[in-house]
Amino acid sequence: MNQPLIAPSLLAADFANLQRDVEMVNESEADYLHIDIMDGVFVPNISFGFPVLEAVRRYCRKPLDVHLMIVQPERYLEAFAEAGAAVIHVHYEACTHLHRTLTRIRELGCRAGVVLNPHTPISGLEDVMEVIDVVLIMSVNPGFGGQSFIEHTYRKTARLKNMLATGGSSAMIEIDGGVSVDNAARLTEAGADILVAGSSVFKAPDPAVAIRELKEGRLP
Ligand code: DX5
Ligand code: ZN
Repeated sequence: MNQPLIAPSLLAADFANLQRDVEMVNESEADYLHIDIMDGVFVPNISFGFPVLEAVRRYCRKPLDVHLMIVQPERYLEAFAEAGAAVIHVHYEACTHLHRTLTRIRELGCRAGVVLNPHTPISGLEDVMEVIDVVLIMSVNPGFGGQSFIEHTYRKTARLKNMLATGGSSAMIEIDGGVSVDNAARLTEAGADILVAGSSVFKAPDPAVAIRELKEGRLP
């Protein structure tokens, strides 16, 4: 079984010590830094915007994995590309013209990610597979960190893996929400390539060790 890539989610960091927490990620075995942008409309919470993202970018040496929980994300693609996003994820539920939006993300030189809420079936991706670099499966309802993992995600991940293989897609599968050492190995086994982890990393006694354990799939 391959080791998953790990994307610690900045949402669970200490915002009064962001530079310290970003340095921890730099020194760790993390592969990305996951950035959650929430607009208070698509999700019932507001996180942070460009000034914070730009400050983080100045210190972060890992690629930025930007998760847009906003309505009409197409209005901000250039701005997030300019702000240093390596991957831009848009929600399936927020995009009227998903194919156009994903194509535009690639034109901007970023990798194109599409996010599925827990209730959104994978079948809606069948006709846009060729413009997707990453599918992000929400394993909680988006908007908040620290929620419980939805068990159905294992089956959804395995079905998506199968659908991508059948369709000849090399898109990666990413999982976000309630990820911890208790479910990491099973998610990887089901087909996940990238694991986002907020609370289980930043609330751990040693976040860098937590990142390594997620990667190595230590059994709980
Ligand atoms: C939730 C966000 C997540 C969140 C994950 O809407 O998309 O990235 O930070 O946090 P945990 O890992 O604590 O569930
Ligand atoms: Zn996220």
